[in-house]
Amino acid sequence: MKTLVIGSGGREHALCWSLAASPMVTEVLCAPGNAGIEAVARCIPVAVDDIDGLVRLARDEEVGLVVVGPELPLTLGLVDRLAGEGIRAFGPSAAAARLESSKAFTKEFCTRHDIPTARYRTFTQEDAEAARAYVRAEGAPIVIKADGLAAGKGVVVATTLDEALAAVDDALAGGFGAAGATLVIEECLVGEEASLFALCDGRHALEIGTAQDHKRAFDGDQGPNTGGMGAYSPAPVLTDALVEQVMAQIIRPTLAGMAEEGHPFTGFLYAGLMLTADGPKLIEYNVRFGDPECQAVLPRLMTDLCQLLLGALDGQLHHMNLRWLPLHALSVVMAAKGYPGSYAKGTEIRGTEGLESDDLLLFHAGTRREGGRLLAQGGRVLNVTGLGATLAEAQARAYAAVDRIDWPDGFCRRDIGWRELQRR
Ligand code: AMP
Ligand code: GLY
Repeated sequence: MKTLVIGSGGREHALCWSLAASPMVTEVLCAPGNAGIEAVARCIPVAVDDIDGLVRLARDEEVGLVVVGPELPLTLGLVDRLAGEGIRAFGPSAAAARLESSKAFTKEFCTRHDIPTARYRTFTQEDAEAARAYVRAEGAPIVIKADGLAAGKGVVVATTLDEALAAVDDALAGGFGAAGATLVIEECLVGEEASLFALCDGRHALEIGTAQDHKRAFDGDQGPNTGGMGAYSPAPVLTDALVEQVMAQIIRPTLAGMAEEGHPFTGFLYAGLMLTADGPKLIEYNVRFGDPECQAVLPRLMTDLCQLLLGALDGQLHHMNLRWLPLHALSVVMAAKGYPGSYAKGTEIRGTEGLESDDLLLFHAGTRREGGRLLAQGGRVLNVTGLGATLAEAQARAYAAVDRIDWPDGFCRRDIGWRELQRR
């Protein structure tokens, strides 16, 4: 069958690469894709927010399975539109995607279904005085969040009361944009962060990997927040017992609650967790795979991805199980100098040929090809994933390949994996 992947990042490259390996898949299409994806898929220049264009493409190409990478088309209702046309699409409906698109919805949902998360209150612009009073009463540290999608910029973890009050004022004055018209103010959780991914069919969920991301731009977790500068999987801090606890207390109640409320969740559910002294608590949900986490999870998956996604669309996940390579994977993001701020486009990248092997994979994000040259076209540009029997081995492989890539206008963190490696 023909499959169509929506998106243009490293996550979508990993999805295309995985689908292309399936004997069930005759051709992989990707909209819009990137220069690396072209090696495994036919890229078609339709933007991820052009819902009409994507529906037309899937119909004209008689696509048998659409897989949606990023959150934007999901929240714009792409899966609902495709389903309306009788086209099978893997990902949540717009109503189910509220688990990511509205933090207020998710917090209230957690309260209704007894899912462990930080204590919180929500406030609208009319409640500015009440929001300030709540912050004063709770004290610092405290977390101020925009309700809506804010591209990772809608959260302030305030360590002092002044900082917290300034964040409230800034948000209510429009500092988070439209996403901040409603605020969530919540308890600051203490612990280590880790992520768990669940493959969901509306009623059942299978754990499809754990990971730890590195959100800050620079080594030692310094600098501004980014979309993620590197990840490794599995995350040993999420032991089998903790994974089972997260499935039992967070993931399964979420699926049951969403189904009960009339919005069954089908898709990848990404739980951002804080491992607190009181057990794992949900920091946030995303309704898609993580990027770059996906680039560290899929290379370890042995089960046919196409078969799994079709199984999910058929509500059959309870009859399926996952098989994994007994390896660790670690993915380093190479980004354009200046990211996550402003950066140059069109700089040349050399030395990417011949790097790949059974235990070294290169996933492209913001790249394009021009006259045979590989050019950087975005903030996050390449993902270099190493596999190894140990995490240290995976890390060594990834950085050995990074060092062979010649891109003077790029940078990467040199310490991906530090948290786990220093524990040894
Ligand atoms: P989010 O966009 O919700 O993932 O938040 C971004 C980051 O802010 C998270 O990865 C955490 O590091 C931090 N954060 C969010 N909520 C909390 C919380 N309640 N307590 C502590 N840290 C938080
Ligand atoms: N790496 C974080 C995310 O995908 O949201």
